[in-house]
Amino acid sequence: EVESAVPALEKRAAFEAFKATISGPNGKLTAAMKGMKDVPKEDKPAMGKLLNETKQQIEALYAATLERIEAAETAEKLGPPIDPTLPCPDIASGSLHPLTQTRRLMEAAFRKVGFTVAEGPELETEWFCFDALNTPEDHPARDAQDTLFLPEAAAVDNVTKHGSERYLMRSHTSTVQIRAMMKEEPPLRIISPGRVFRRDTTDATHSANFHQMEGLYVDKNVTVVDLKAILDYFVAEIFGKGSTVRLRPSFFPFTEPSFELDMKTPNLGKLSNQWIELGGCGMVDPNVFRHVGYDPEKWTGYAFGMGIERIAMIVHGIDDIRYFYQNDLRFLQQFA
Ligand code: PHE
Repeated sequence: EVESAVPALEKRAAFEAFKATISGPNGKLTAAMKGMKDVPKEDKPAMGKLLNETKQQIEALYAATLERIEAAETAEKLGPPIDPTLPCPDIASGSLHPLTQTRRLMEAAFRKVGFTVAEGPELETEWFCFDALNTPEDHPARDAQDTLFLPEAAAVDNVTKHGSERYLMRSHTSTVQIRAMMKEEPPLRIISPGRVFRRDTTDATHSANFHQMEGLYVDKNVTVVDLKAILDYFVAEIFGKGSTVRLRPSFFPFTEPSFELDMKTPNLGKLSNQWIELGGCGMVDPNVFRHVGYDPEKWTGYAFGMGIERIAMIVHGIDDIRYFYQNDLRFLQQFA
């Protein structure tokens, strides 16, 4: 009876109910066991053996049935089976931010000609940002109108002051020039991409927080010709064949002579063949070398600085810097 009944049992409750009719207090097997006392003495051994064997068979059937029911319960909890070999439904994958893409493009161009990437902290001290860069005490960039200073009492454990100067958010990546030169002896060839901060009111072309890439080369007998050559090389790498650079006289405290850096390219549609400003550059001022302990009689160098946003905007024809920071997928997906 047990053998023919169990295959039809699919739920635990039905199984337990059936089991009670056999092995429960009023069950058939229990009754047969109780009946042993009325079996004639000479038949007891044979009957006892038979009952025991039957009981074992029944228990094996219970165990197998319970296992089958439990497996079905688990399968029900897990839901329909998954086929891991099927192609994935449309799951959106991330992509690099256009500024990251542009930064990497710029880095790759400079790496090809021997520059390495150097980094420095975004929170800086006034000495690294201004004094060491030969910027006079009364220079307008030091004004709290232009630069974001930290409160006098601010304590910053991981950026060491040179003296008792104030902490600030770096307003250019030229700070990394100083840190690199203080760490290493010349010759030196670095670029330093990174975030900078200015007290600007945000509009289509200004942001209080943007990115620059600084370049610095120090060696013997470096001249403006070398500076012009590296910049011509760079704009051709980024904007394509036929792109050139123009240096316009300017002033920065840390370079002498100093230039504004303009670029012209035949490959930019409406923007083709007109001068576009990219940044600043010049020959490292001897006073900067003195501040970092380089002998200005022995060493010469050039430095340049460019905005990464600016280059991304020119390359992609983006007319508002704010798009970079809004995380609007309609914008970002155009660069995926
Ligand atoms: N640090 C300058 C700026 O942020 C750019 C620059 C870098 C100019 C290196 C000359 C040399 O405007």
